[in-house]
Amino acid sequence: MSDRRFLLAPSLLSADFARLGEEVRHVVASGADWIHFDVMDNHYVPNLTVGPLVCAAIRPHTAAPIDVHLMVKPVDRIIPDFVKAGANFISFHPEASEHIDRSLALIRDGGGRAGLVFNPATPLHYLDHVMERLDFVLLMSVNPGFGGQSFIPATLEKLAATRARLDAHEEKTGRHILLEVDGGVKVDNIAAIARAGAEVFVAGSAIFGAARAEDPHAYTHVIARLRAELARA
Ligand code: DX5
Ligand code: ZN
Repeated sequence: MSDRRFLLAPSLLSADFARLGEEVRHVVASGADWIHFDVMDNHYVPNLTVGPLVCAAIRPHTAAPIDVHLMVKPVDRIIPDFVKAGANFISFHPEASEHIDRSLALIRDGGGRAGLVFNPATPLHYLDHVMERLDFVLLMSVNPGFGGQSFIPATLEKLAATRARLDAHEEKTGRHILLEVDGGVKVDNIAAIARAGAEVFVAGSAIFGAARAEDPHAYTHVIARLRAELARA
């Protein structure tokens, strides 16, 4: 049995963009829990990826939640488009929004689950007045913009501090806010990251970088190895 305290969210950024629907079906059949969908605008981050049209195109290929990570500025105009495109979880960077409370409300108003994303150097004080508006918090363990970067070790301490705040909130209100981590998550560090308090693990290159054509079970193997590590956490 896999340990459902922990959720794996493969990032499509490292998938084969010419075969996205197939990649989504394949990775979910291999045991992925969520699909992480990175939206970059060549303005907030120095890279350009995909938008709501591509989100809508993959939607029919899976019942798994689609986790849209917005690395765009401004954020508000595009949120309703992603809600319509079938996104389940939507997060944005507080530095990219002029009105954080309003952006969070826009996501929930559309029926989505709302999250804030923290860059490695973004202070946690952005959590101060919005806890009631949050369904999840995403901590970046690399600087946003590219797949395949190394996990920044200081994230472990920040995860623990965030976990403590979320636990205190749960004690007070009975409401659980999920803690997600994104960047450089691999088989050899996922257990330590889980021990620091993360529950949802984005992994791009670790999963989609596994050999494809040669081994049709590559995703199953790497996901099983990640889960085995999580079971030890
Ligand atoms: C980076 C993206 C990540 C990226 C992670 O800006 O937000 O989701 O795909 O890739 P890996 O797992 O390769 O670090
Ligand atoms: Zn991401």
